Amino acid sequence: MSIHEKVKSFLSPYYSKETILKDNRPFITLTYAQSLDGKISGKGGKQLRLSCEESMIMTHRLRTYHDGIMVGIGTIINDDPRLTARLLENGEESKINQPQPIILDSELRFPLSAKLLTSNECKSPWIFTSQNCDDEKRKVLEQSGAKVIPIDSDQDGQLSLMHLLSILHNQPFSIKHLMVEGGARIIQSFLRNELIDLLIITIAPVFVGPEAVSATGDNRKTIKENEAENIFPNLESVKYEQLGKDIIMIANIV
Ligand SMILES: NC(=O)c1ccc[n+]([C@@H]2O[C@H](COP(=O)([O-])OP(=O)(O)OC[C@H]3O[C@@H](n4cnc5c(N)ncnc54)[C@H](OP(=O)(O)O)[C@@H]3O)[C@@H](O)[C@H]2O)c1
Repeated sequence: MSIHEKVKSFLSPYYSKETILKDNRPFITLTYAQSLDGKISGKGGKQLRLSCEESMIMTHRLRTYHDGIMVGIGTIINDDPRLTARLLENGEESKINQPQPIILDSELRFPLSAKLLTSNECKSPWIFTSQNCDDEKRKVLEQSGAKVIPIDSDQDGQLSLMHLLSILHNQPFSIKHLMVEGGARIIQSFLRNELIDLLIITIAPVFVGPEAVSATGDNRKTIKENEAENIFPNLESVKYEQLGKDIIMIANIV
């Protein structure tokens, strides 16, 4: 069995027609790659290539099952991702409807030089921001092709995930399957708000060290004190698959 076939047979049951879609929000997959010591990037947020080639193929295939891919502005500034599904078979990437990049950015810090605005390969991003965003920044981003959508903030002053998801779920956006890819603060927000349906973690057999950034609370204090202990979800039907040198853990969240 080729790696592409292996990955498809592993993932497709989770996205079959029987997948229960939600009434009021998209079905949400949270996915990221971590080291054995639970780190998702290096010291000071330095981007790390944790996944092996086979698990990268899995992540890109996973993107094809989703209408939208979400990351926070921290990941855009740090990693400048394209958020496209690549590494597919036989030029499939040009034939599929690529997922929509969706960014959370309350202060419109989105760089005009980002690949999502400058590369022909990428779909222009939808940027969700705060109701009191800077009009001038909004205008410039929109002139560069982005769609900027102001939404409510929650009681902590962060963009409200509930408002965001209800907007995404409905017309004209109609996102039914959303893949949340990080980084650390976005992962923590989705876990804390109990908004994940499916969790897929790539575990790479490396140690990164204590000063690196962890997915669930780290030494940069990306979350408030004592919050980390409140974000452990109940996992159900946990399965593991080895892809190359990595282990993939997949679990439903109840
Ligand atoms: N290993 C992996 O799979 C993986 C994947 C992705 C990223 N990463 C790593 O993650 C790091 C970036 O993580 P990060 O924590 O700095 O940034 P992030 O999670 O990508 O973005 C966080 C920012 O999003 C904005 N935001 C708006 N609404 C939010 C909400 N409701 N909840 C949380 N954030 C909200 C906030 O900025 P404003 O207040 O300005 O809006 C916040 O600072 C990078 O080092 C990157 O390499 C790793």
